Amino acid sequence: MSVYFLYCRPGFEKDLAAEIQHKAAEKEIYGYCRVKDNAGFIEFDATEHEPGLLFKVLKLDDVIFARQWFRQVAELGDLDEGDRITPIIQALENEIFTDISIDYPDTNDGKALAKFAKKFTLPLSKALEKRGLLKKNTKRRLHLFMQSSDCIYLGFSVFSNASRHHLGIHRLKSPKDAPSRSTLKLEEAFHHFIPKEEWDTRLGSGLHGVDLGASPGGWTYQLVQRSMFVAAIDNGPMDTRLMETGQVRHYQEDGFVFRPRRGNNYWLICDMVEKPTRVAKLMAQWLADGDCKEAMFNLKLPMKQRFNSVLECFDVIENELAELDIRYSLKAKHLYHDREEITVHLYCTKRYDGL
Ligand SMILES: C[S@@+](CC[C@H](N)C(=O)[O-])C[C@H]1O[C@@H](n2cnc3c(N)ncnc32)[C@H](O)[C@@H]1O
Repeated sequence: MSVYFLYCRPGFEKDLAAEIQHKAAEKEIYGYCRVKDNAGFIEFDATEHEPGLLFKVLKLDDVIFARQWFRQVAELGDLDEGDRITPIIQALENEIFTDISIDYPDTNDGKALAKFAKKFTLPLSKALEKRGLLKKNTKRRLHLFMQSSDCIYLGFSVFSNASRHHLGIHRLKSPKDAPSRSTLKLEEAFHHFIPKEEWDTRLGSGLHGVDLGASPGGWTYQLVQRSMFVAAIDNGPMDTRLMETGQVRHYQEDGFVFRPRRGNNYWLICDMVEKPTRVAKLMAQWLADGDCKEAMFNLKLPMKQRFNSVLECFDVIENELAELDIRYSLKAKHLYHDREEITVHLYCTKRYDGL
């Protein structure tokens, strides 16, 4: 069986389906998707191809709308309430794995299963261990995805190409003194895009950043917390406590016109609600002009054809940067704290003059 199970934010199933078909086809893997509106997951059926091939040619990090994925090995329906474990063990045959994740969709129905999932974990683990299926050092995780308490999909992911977070959701605690909850979007983005061992240099104290569309300051707060200096651009007011840190200068200017006065700016962050291609172009121009080394920004997506809209924005960025002597990486993810937007990271890895 070469069927893949992919999780997403409910409401984004069609976007994920369009994306996985497009990206798999680029690797010459052809298949079709089974999609149900607001289910919080899709199935990608690539039965003609070797099982697991998709995981060898595509990284989860490169699939924008997917939070988690696994290769399906069985679908169990009408499970007996008295004994769910026996059919699970039978379906697994002799497959071995090192970890178990009991999953459910990120929907209201799914959340109602969370308690059951928690209670089920221990007896299931014990039974699987006893049968010799749960073993050390296999690099594989068993997923039990419960659509309901009597309908379960079973399958495997590989540690090196899957999310380490349960359900692919990175939960973060909202800092009490942050001016807005959107602060979590940028915090999650830093965790997702910047390797921890590089935080000291890329998110370290003393760096300078510009925040376009900064009011009231949730994103600026993330830089200030890391002892950076921020130029905050917005006609709206900035949080008083942030201003009192002395690390923030507030400019009531148009974010599409503002540029840093000095050549020492490292970060560009941008949360302006604007046409996505317009924002994409602006970000690429900053990078092209050497006005920042890294940019983290949101693209607010339309209600329909979101994946096409992302492709259009990537084209805009790639065209802006095509003729220049710079190397860059361009990555995007629909993060847990994002809603109708995705977060994009544009990073100039080879710089000319100065920065
Ligand atoms: C979603 S809010 C930003 C929230 C902020 N990131 C936070 O965490 O608190 C978008 C902001 O973009 C600002 N904005 C929109 N267009 C702008 C422009 N052309 N120049 C500057 N700011 C703009 C709005 O005034 C608004 O405050």
